[in-house]
Amino acid sequence: MVMAFVVEARTERDMMSIGEKVAELLQAGDFVGLSGRLAAGKTTLTKGIANGLAVVEPVTSPSYVLFNLYRGKITLIHGDFYRLDDQDGVGETGWDDRAFWGPAVTVIEWSDRHPGLLPGERLDIDIRVCGGQRRMLTVRPLGRGWLTRERRLRELLDEYTLHSGD
Ligand SMILES: Nc1ncnc2c1ncn2[C@@H]1O[C@H](COP(=O)(O)OP(=O)(O)OP(=O)(O)O)[C@@H](O)[C@H]1O
Ligand SMILES: [Mg+2]
Repeated sequence: MVMAFVVEARTERDMMSIGEKVAELLQAGDFVGLSGRLAAGKTTLTKGIANGLAVVEPVTSPSYVLFNLYRGKITLIHGDFYRLDDQDGVGETGWDDRAFWGPAVTVIEWSDRHPGLLPGERLDIDIRVCGGQRRMLTVRPLGRGWLTRERRLRELLDEYTLHSGD
């Protein structure tokens, strides 16, 4: 089993950098689930991921549209489950049409609101606000596909990783 680990973003800039580093490992077909309270930094982290995927169009919050699609090295689908009240209503949102959009990285904010819609194979990142700009991110790679990438992921995020004694 792959273990979760904790990284720290001391500033908004750190949050962007963490996203950029995560993006280095992302492949078409990957799913990233983001959780954490309002203004935790989920969209900011997604902006970092988008930068890392060489998306040039500015990334905005998908709260009202449920999904945005961006062209990059890999297509980025950026979604938000916050306003999705009913999992059964997801068919109307375009969720089931994702396959037609082609190979993409999918990043979903508030993914924990609808666990039943998430693939078992995914990268979960839970963001906790620690006061000021400090954020603690619990990074949890899930599924066999991450077994081979976990070590590299930890290396990429090493400078942000909390080691015992920090
Ligand atoms: N370390 C940090 N990382 C990210 N954002 C930070 C940080 N410190 C302060 N902020 C501020 O917190 C806010 C985070 O907003 P953001 O839209 O990224 O949050 P969110 O989790 O997507 O919120 P929502 O639940 O409304 O979608 C921004 O105003 C940003 O400037
Ligand atoms: Mg957001």
